[in-house]
Amino acid sequence: MRIFLDTGHLDEIEQAVAWGVCDGVTTNPSLHARAVAREGAQGGRALEYRERILRIAELVDGPISAECVSRTEDELVAEATELASWHEQVVVKIPIDAAGLGAIRRVSEQGIAVNTTLIFSLTQALLAARAGAAYVSPFVGRLDDIGHDGVELVEQVVAVLDQYHLPTQVIAASLRGPQHVARCALAGAHIATLPFGVIEQMLKHPLTDKGIEAFLTDWRAAQAQLGAAPVG
Ligand code: G3P
Repeated sequence: MRIFLDTGHLDEIEQAVAWGVCDGVTTNPSLHARAVAREGAQGGRALEYRERILRIAELVDGPISAECVSRTEDELVAEATELASWHEQVVVKIPIDAAGLGAIRRVSEQGIAVNTTLIFSLTQALLAARAGAAYVSPFVGRLDDIGHDGVELVEQVVAVLDQYHLPTQVIAASLRGPQHVARCALAGAHIATLPFGVIEQMLKHPLTDKGIEAFLTDWRAAQAQLGAAPVG
């Protein structure tokens, strides 16, 4: 399973790239707004959306999702074409609805990769895949929020796309913790897009911390007995 960062914060992307765990980035208007607010609060100049996407492209080799905000099919097609012209790594994000579906077909036919966003059902994913979307993004956490099992949707979408040999890839999105990531990996999601904090949580285990502490204590005791200078 590939790992994308779900963020507009450049420092988080830089760190994940340095760790070797950033195969791409997804953004949306809310993540852009959060990044603009943080840049403003830090007293710096906040980046326009296009500048943000181009800065991300300098950091990452893989796909970068940039989201359309238009609400009619023709406007979505025009906006998606514009976003895709910014950089060859751009994948355009289009929400699934009637206007979105028509736009997904037309934009995909132009050879532009589409990430269909706000997927909450198997049938929405199936329609997007049939219309030619390169990616579908089921929102796991938001389904959990209303008492459903979001990962179950990922399992179903992966199984159905596979059953009908559809080339659309599944990006498990709205993932809130390591358990979501582990279950989506077991479900066969092609990609998980993660907030930076979830990657940090995935790294941590109390037994690892405890084990490191015990190794260091024992090492120091051995060095002391040998009369050697303690290391660490
Ligand atoms: O990629 C979708 C994601 O940004 C939504 O996450 O936590 O707002 O449901 P969340």
